[in-house]
Amino acid sequence: MKAVFAAEPNAEDPLSGLRFGERPDPEPGPGEVRVAVRAASLNMHDVFTLRGVGLRPERFPMILGCDGAGVLEDGTEVVVHGVVATPGWRGDETLDPRRTLLSELWQGTMAEYVVLPEYNVVPKPPELSFADAACLGTAWLTAYRMLFVKSGLRPGQTALVQGASGGVSTALVALGAAAGIRMFATARTEEKQAVAKSLGAERTFESGARLPERVDVVFDSVGRATWSHSMRSLRPGGAVVTCGATTGDPTAAEIQRLFFTQLRVIGSTMGTRDELEHLIAFLVASGVRPTVGASLPLADAATGFAAMVAGETAGKTVLTTN
Ligand SMILES: NC(=O)c1ccc[n+]([C@@H]2O[C@H](COP(=O)([O-])OP(=O)(O)OC[C@H]3O[C@@H](n4cnc5c(N)ncnc54)[C@H](OP(=O)(O)O)[C@@H]3O)[C@@H](O)[C@H]2O)c1
Repeated sequence: MKAVFAAEPNAEDPLSGLRFGERPDPEPGPGEVRVAVRAASLNMHDVFTLRGVGLRPERFPMILGCDGAGVLEDGTEVVVHGVVATPGWRGDETLDPRRTLLSELWQGTMAEYVVLPEYNVVPKPPELSFADAACLGTAWLTAYRMLFVKSGLRPGQTALVQGASGGVSTALVALGAAAGIRMFATARTEEKQAVAKSLGAERTFESGARLPERVDVVFDSVGRATWSHSMRSLRPGGAVVTCGATTGDPTAAEIQRLFFTQLRVIGSTMGTRDELEHLIAFLVASGVRPTVGASLPLADAATGFAAMVAGETAGKTVLTTN
């Protein structure tokens, strides 16, 4: 089958290991299903895989892609849940210390077929296109958990999203605004601020700008470049919810501000299968849909990856198999 895969890791030049070519057709074992993939989407995680982060060298070549949507052999349309817990794990899959994400141990979704445990697919409602559904399993699920499971925000409260044009960030702005939370967003260019506005952000600002009022919660997936601003932007007792550090670890943890204004720092990772089902139901009920900035055939994956590495994406980049 045709697939997009990481041939070998390269920490300095991640795109040098990116390939489009033939990989073996996967066969499902007991308790597993085979999904004919219709669409998959890019995540920063795929770039980390190309850099060799979180993957031992002997795991390469590895098909990329943590999320996607497609059709089971019986014709059922499904959305992939990319968090694979260890067999027998009960409860919140994201708390299983031995869980993996698709493309870490199991081959990923950027291929004509993907095989995964049958627990890791949920039905795709007809209201969602395959492209929309392919955006949900990682970025949108992460945003849903950050907003509705971790932050403690209530409708009418105010939140800031740092770096508004990314996959997780566009999901945070759109979902938060739809739930009645006043969403502020920062972005590095006016075009990217306009993306956040179009998704329902009440106010947008340049990265690092002083806000007109302090907020209840900041969502930060950027790390070093925005961390101090995130801590400065919180009201006393507020919380920063983080799921990543695209620009690396912050050089200053802002400990003094943390204890003196009694802030909270909350980590969040992916989401459970149940949360994915709730996210899908919320999209159907609200009419909110992912922002797909680019849709490309699988064969043109390199174009999408180059844009992601250059920080030139607006929302999600989707790869389609036909
Ligand atoms: N823990 C989890 O489960 C989980 C799940 C998904 C993602 N993540 C992490 O979350 C992060 C974002 O992932 P993604 O897929 O949304 O990536 P993405 O679509 O490429 O978005 C990257 C974001 O980073 C911002 N950014 C990059 N460099 C910046 C800088 N120097 N200053 C300010 N903002 C900057 C961009 O903001 P602009 O709008 O200004 O360009 C953009 O919003 C990654 O670190 C990823 O690993 C974690």
